[in-house]
Amino acid sequence: MNVGELEAVARSLVAPGKGILAADESAPTIEKRFKAIDVPSTEENRRAYRDLLFTTPGVSEFISGVILYDETIRQRAADGTPFTKVLERQGIVPGIKVDEGAKALIGFPGEKIAEGLDGLRGRLPEYRTLGARFAKWRAVIDIGAGIPTRYCIQANAHALARYAALCQEAGLVPIVEPEVLMDGNHTIERCEEVTTEVLSLVYAELTAHRVVLEGTLLKPNMVVSGKGCPDQAGASRVAEATVRTLYRVVPPAVSGIVFLSGGQTPRQATEHLSVMNALGKHPWELSFSYGRALQDPVLKAWKGKAANVPAAKEAFFLRSKLNGAARFGRYSTSMEPAA
Ligand code: 13P
Repeated sequence: MNVGELEAVARSLVAPGKGILAADESAPTIEKRFKAIDVPSTEENRRAYRDLLFTTPGVSEFISGVILYDETIRQRAADGTPFTKVLERQGIVPGIKVDEGAKALIGFPGEKIAEGLDGLRGRLPEYRTLGARFAKWRAVIDIGAGIPTRYCIQANAHALARYAALCQEAGLVPIVEPEVLMDGNHTIERCEEVTTEVLSLVYAELTAHRVVLEGTLLKPNMVVSGKGCPDQAGASRVAEATVRTLYRVVPPAVSGIVFLSGGQTPRQATEHLSVMNALGKHPWELSFSYGRALQDPVLKAWKGKAANVPAAKEAFFLRSKLNGAARFGRYSTSMEPAA
C-alpha cells in the first residue's frame, strides 16, 4: 500500500469546486430508474445512458470522479473507447461499487447487512487494472420501531472496515458509505441520534482494522427529517445538525466527506450542501457523491431517445455546475432555471 498515493487520490476527489457522480446503479436499481421514464433496461440502453453522462462536455470542471458498476466499467463509448479512458482523458477518476447489495440480516427483522466480502480480495486487483482508483461500499441502516439494533450497526461497521482495509491493500481509496435511510416518520433529532451512533461505531471499527483514515472518504447521509415526519426541517436546521454530528464523530484525519442524496430532491441536496459550506471552513472538504440528485433531471430530459441527448447533457451540466457552486457555499435557488 502506498499511503501517499491513496491520500493524493482521496484529496483529488474532493478538490475545491468538485464532487463525485454516483453512476453505479446495480442492475435492479437502474431498471427501476428506467421504468420511471418508460425505457427498457437493456444492456445497450444502459450503455447509451452512461455514454451521454460521461461525454458531457465541460463537466470535469465540477466532477472529479465517477462511481461505476461492474458492467459499466467494462463498457465502451459509441466510438469504441473504454469508458474508463473517456473519463481519464477528462481528468475524471473512475471508481467502482464493490458491495453486492444489502440483504436481510437474519434474526433481525427489518434490518440489512451489506454482502460482498467473500472473494473481495481476489476481485479488487482486476478493478484496479481496469482503471479504478477508488471503490464504494454501501451499508444501509433503517430507522423504525425498535431499529436499528446495536447488532445491525456493529455488523455493518465491521464489514465496512474489512472492505476498507482490503481496498487500501489493493491501492484503491475506499469510500465508506453507511447510509441512514430517510424512509419513515422519524424526527430529525432521531436521525441525528442514529447517525451519531452509526458513525461512532464505523470509526471505532476502521481504527481497529488499522485503516489509514487519510486514504479514505466518508459518504454519509445528511441529518434530515424522515420523509413522513410532519415536522420537515428546513435547510439551516439540516445543515447545522449535519455539521454538528460530523464534528462530534468524524476524525479530522479523514480526507473528505462526500454526501449521498438519499431521496432528497436535486434542489434540496444542492441547497443543503451549499448552506453547510457557507457555515465556514471545516476540518474536511464537504462535497457530494450524488446519484439521484445529479441524474433525475437527466433521465427526465433523455427518456431513452437519441434526439434528447443534447438536452439531457445540458441538464447534467447544469446540476454539476450548481453543485460545484454549492462546494463554495455559493448556490442560490435563483440560479435554477425558471420552471
Ligand atoms: P443517491 O445520491 O441517489 O442517494 O445515490 C448515492 C449512492 O451512491 C447511494 O449508494
